[in-house]
Amino acid sequence: MSTGYYSGLIDRYRSVLPLAEDSRAISLCEGNTPLVLCKNLEQANQKEIKMYLKYEGLNPTGSFKDRGMTVAVTQAVYEGSRAIICASTGNTSASAAAYAARAGIKAFVLIPEGNIAMGKLAQAMMHGAIILQIRGNFDDGMRLVKEVAENAPVNIVNSINPYRLQGQKTAAYEIVEELGCAPDFHCIPVGNAGNISAYWMGYSEIAAKASAHAPETATTSGLEARPRMLGYQAAGAAPFIAGKPIENPETVATAIRIGHPQSWDLAQRAVEESKGWFHAFSDEQILAAQMLLTAREGIFCEPASATSVAGALHDIEHDNIPGGSTVVCTLTGHGLKDPDIAIRQSSAELVTIDAELKSVKDAILKNL
Ligand code: F0G
Repeated sequence: MSTGYYSGLIDRYRSVLPLAEDSRAISLCEGNTPLVLCKNLEQANQKEIKMYLKYEGLNPTGSFKDRGMTVAVTQAVYEGSRAIICASTGNTSASAAAYAARAGIKAFVLIPEGNIAMGKLAQAMMHGAIILQIRGNFDDGMRLVKEVAENAPVNIVNSINPYRLQGQKTAAYEIVEELGCAPDFHCIPVGNAGNISAYWMGYSEIAAKASAHAPETATTSGLEARPRMLGYQAAGAAPFIAGKPIENPETVATAIRIGHPQSWDLAQRAVEESKGWFHAFSDEQILAAQMLLTAREGIFCEPASATSVAGALHDIEHDNIPGGSTVVCTLTGHGLKDPDIAIRQSSAELVTIDAELKSVKDAILKNL
């Protein structure tokens, strides 16, 4: 009997995932995240643009990585693996650590020393991952992980593992199910370039299935359409704008501090086939978008995630996204991941008062 209990994206989408029927899902009930319609952004409202936020920060470990990790770890366990390994700017390590704990296997994570947000480090530590801080950046970590996995009995769970992208494509399925069709534009931050590739795979599968059925039904369902994919980077870490990998990437959005994206070809194809584009934004623009969402929409995402909104607002203002469009921005990770940056950029004043009624009343009157 169906109880309505949501048990995670493998149970929900197993028919479109390349998992063996008898594989046991390692799940934390990830996926099924809200698609929040923006209400208060004048830029969108004035042009009658429906702008939705796919709030992936509400996954179990606070980022979209859980979608890919549930599938990658399920497959690793099915293959008999006792350990997984990844390089990470933070979120992949948090997710790998959590799913490894759930599965009862070991997680080894390589993170760039001094360049990972505090919340993400706390997660990896609490879930019992073996943490290797490297004197180098994410790209160095990625190179090392690829080398070591050739010689050691560990499964790589970075997005070069195809099961990762398979899991992440389910976000596109959820969006199409909720909207009834694909949006006109999909805005997404690009770091290692796995997620933009995964969404494009999801949208393309849905469209291909709809087209295959269309001849029978005379009318089209609208499901054949795919969005234009807009990939946004941080200006200091923008290899897709440079047209080649870059050394020494730098940005306040540490999650996307990446110069050698692994899914280069897939991401290029997603943008080209969809007639989309790449664009880059300064750290100031990214943080301003983060602040705008937090203050005006009540939604707190981490800096890297806000890149999608910085991009969408820029492209709306410049009429690259025309009035009347439907836009989805993926908010890849929760704002609580990176409290340091949030507190540093917040202009909120911390007022200390005596523990007495008059002081509270005075403070209220002063601020009303
Ligand atoms: N946003 C956040 C919050 C991320 O953590 C990442 C990637 C991205 C966007 C970019 O996604 O790599 O698929 O293009 N974080 C990886 C990590 C690299 O190690 O956690 P991408």
